[in-house]
Amino acid sequence: MINPIFVALDTTQTGKAAVLAAKLEGLVGGFKLGLEFFTAQGPAGIEAVGHLGMPLFLDLKFHDIPNTVAGAMRGIARLRPAMTTLHAQGGIEMMRAGIDAARDEAAKLGISPPKVLAVTVLTSLDEAALAAMGVNGPVLDHVLRLAERAAEAGVDGLVCSSHEVAAVRKAVGPDKLLVVPGIRPAWGDFGDQKRVMTPREAYDLGADILVIGRPITSAADPAAAARDIAGEVAQCRSK
Ligand code: C5P
Repeated sequence: MINPIFVALDTTQTGKAAVLAAKLEGLVGGFKLGLEFFTAQGPAGIEAVGHLGMPLFLDLKFHDIPNTVAGAMRGIARLRPAMTTLHAQGGIEMMRAGIDAARDEAAKLGISPPKVLAVTVLTSLDEAALAAMGVNGPVLDHVLRLAERAAEAGVDGLVCSSHEVAAVRKAVGPDKLLVVPGIRPAWGDFGDQKRVMTPREAYDLGADILVIGRPITSAADPAAAARDIAGEVAQCRSK
């Protein structure tokens, strides 16, 4: 079974990320690095963590004109992450340009292209915030609209909240990879995450990959926490 846990290494320091990654190597499926890390450490930092040989999820959420996103996606492909993200709100043409560029660059280098995932509506936006930008109606309606457009554009998967995952799965079918953050083991501390789910709940609703940060990275023994969570996940997957 592929280990579906990707650990969010939310730090600006390559040393910290590398130490944590080394502790967790072999216990989790891979690591997520985001804008905070990338703007501090750039491609060299990504390469330093990637050097450990574990799959990386490079979450930079591109949103620009198609030509610019295509150029940026070529750069991403060269860093060889397993997964990367762009905003579905950039439109079908932008998503297609990004996906094509990543695949084309990877083919030129003879490497696997990253799986391109679309982000729909950020969970920091509620119905009032969307209405202020002229998008009226329930947030979930907009999430599903964007998920359908992303599927049409040919993305490999989507990032969605645990509370959206069932509806998104229904909208995009069984083949898209659904990556879900905001997961807390039943015994975990919620931190600032208000709407969380356990790994089992997220699985039952159709998640493929779980992004988990602080329950592992802030644990007194991150390796033990990762082992416990992986056990919980394996148990519910074998049912
Ligand atoms: O520490 P925690 O498990 O909350 O980390 C979750 C990771 O997933 C963080 O990197 C966070 O930025 C990201 N994320 C999230 N909720 C979203 C989108 C992304 O927690 N809705």
